[in-house]
Amino acid sequence: MRIKPHLRVLARCLEEPVRSRWQGSKLSSAWSFQRRPSQLMHTDEAGKMFYITTPIFYVNAAPHIGHLYSAVIADCLHRSRLLRGFNSRFATGTDEHGLKIQQAAESVQKHPLAFCSEVSEKFKHLFTKSNISYTDFIRTTESRHRSAVEHFWTVLLKKGLIYKGSYEGWYSTQDESFLTPTQVTKVTDANGNEITISTESGHKVEWMKEDNYMFRLSEFRAPLQQWLRDNPSAVQPEKFYHIVLQWLDDDLPDLSVSRHKSRLQWGIGVPDDPEQTVYVWLDALVNYLTVAGYPEGHGLWWSAAHHIVGKDILKFHAIYWPAFLMAADLPLPQVVNVHSHWTVQGKKMSKSLGNVVDPLDTAQRYTVDGVRYFLLRQGVPDHDCDYDDAKLVKLLNSELADALGGLLNRCTAPSLNPTQTYPQFCPGSFPMGSPEEPKGRTKPEDYHMVQSVTELPSVVLEHLDSLHIYKALESISACVRQTNGFVQRHAPWKLDLADAADKRWHDTILHVSMECLRVYGTLLQPVVPGLADKLLSRLGVRSEERTWEVLGFLERYYGRKCAFEGRTLGPETGVLFNRLERDTGKAKPKTIKKNKLKSH
Ligand code: MSP
Repeated sequence: MRIKPHLRVLARCLEEPVRSRWQGSKLSSAWSFQRRPSQLMHTDEAGKMFYITTPIFYVNAAPHIGHLYSAVIADCLHRSRLLRGFNSRFATGTDEHGLKIQQAAESVQKHPLAFCSEVSEKFKHLFTKSNISYTDFIRTTESRHRSAVEHFWTVLLKKGLIYKGSYEGWYSTQDESFLTPTQVTKVTDANGNEITISTESGHKVEWMKEDNYMFRLSEFRAPLQQWLRDNPSAVQPEKFYHIVLQWLDDDLPDLSVSRHKSRLQWGIGVPDDPEQTVYVWLDALVNYLTVAGYPEGHGLWWSAAHHIVGKDILKFHAIYWPAFLMAADLPLPQVVNVHSHWTVQGKKMSKSLGNVVDPLDTAQRYTVDGVRYFLLRQGVPDHDCDYDDAKLVKLLNSELADALGGLLNRCTAPSLNPTQTYPQFCPGSFPMGSPEEPKGRTKPEDYHMVQSVTELPSVVLEHLDSLHIYKALESISACVRQTNGFVQRHAPWKLDLADAADKRWHDTILHVSMECLRVYGTLLQPVVPGLADKLLSRLGVRSEERTWEVLGFLERYYGRKCAFEGRTLGPETGVLFNRLERDTGKAKPKTIKKNKLKSH
């Protein structure tokens, strides 16, 4: 079989046994995307690395709640890995090149870089205010990024995977995307004119014809299919994995990866060609490598890459990006995690509709933790979710203010806990038992609760790892309800503290409830860091006792020593989460005005 020269280069990099396997077969089976030995790290450290990214955000408009959603998901996963002892890195940033940004800057008569800097700062500001604990913030206008893109381009060019050609077809500036004839449709606009739009995004497209550089994407259709078949969890949730496979059933034309300078000046120049600018998506995707240190020293982090992306940019991350990476002979991301979108009254948020929810204003009214909790508790990855103030108020009041805050208040209020300590557990009052055979002063439901809370950390972990954050929160919420039921059932306020047996049982009820609260607070840290800190501080839990590795639960029940027993509670007695006003909830969501950016 004759092997194309550029593929021969790829083959050289494969390990010996793999190479001999593919030389005798077709290209599609040539690629083994199981990690190759040379790319594996042989240290324990490798298994404990985690590199999570958000998409880098376009700076043509101010951030909205949907952008914050991508960042909150990534932040939650990053924090959860840190709590599990991982060496975790979390990258976010801004996507500042391209026609869309060039036009946005022109429309407000600003120099593109000044315009980008202003909006990039808005993202940074939002993330700081929202407790987004990124470790790296990248701007594609930085010189470290330009070097990475130039290097990446040169690698692809040298391998013969980029060639000079001409592109004729549809382009959507809004999506910065090339579209095939089957991906567009004709419609009549508000002025009665016939226009062509992208069927997927609904954005207007234009016909363009240009000489530029093309990437041999068509060569990668079979390798991409193979990668997905070999790695069924490479794109999650499953729904999106199947969508990508379906796309790959169709032809995959070569991709234009540059624009003529006369049309696009605002971008990274094609190395050694003053007439061409690198296509903004190639430029943008390389950001993930830039942060990891590409072209030098990126290996360790790059092997642990997890991308969080919205469903609208799936094609770029699950087709173009892996194809580019294969072309550059780099490992593919471990997972592309996809989320759906936030709508308002069932409609897509858009500047033109003026229904874009302002995340800073929302946080001001409902607190940062309130917004984070709502987004992660209500957002399901597979389906779009509707943003609604009333729904938010109802959820936060019931789960954070009443259920969790009420439980903490009950256990720590001086009336019930006059010594302000983490009380003693009495094994005689709450002996080891089962729902079928309750012992001491217990009831069957008490054992159900202990079992649920014992299992909760692993349940939460599993849901977080599969990006079902809402399920993790649902499980915590169900346990909080069980604990409230426990306190209610045994009504410690009715016990006679002068009676020694009653006193022991009273303290045991509080001890068990506080142990539950400690587990909830510890598990909630990635989602609502501020609120969790308040809760744990009130319980007297020190910072080194908050990792998931040392969590433990109800050690005394299991016959072990409890580090918290007898400890003095923290001094901060304030309300954990203030109930939100119903009226506020009925107010319409405050939106970002359509032309707000123009007033800069
Ligand atoms: N710049 C590109 C990404 C390049 S990554 C190499 C881009 N930027 S974006 O600002 O338009 O979108 C950034 C992220 O915000 C995407 O994941 C997108 O899905 C997400 N969201 C934008 N609107 C959204 C909602 N209404 N709801 C949820 N997420 C949304 O695409």
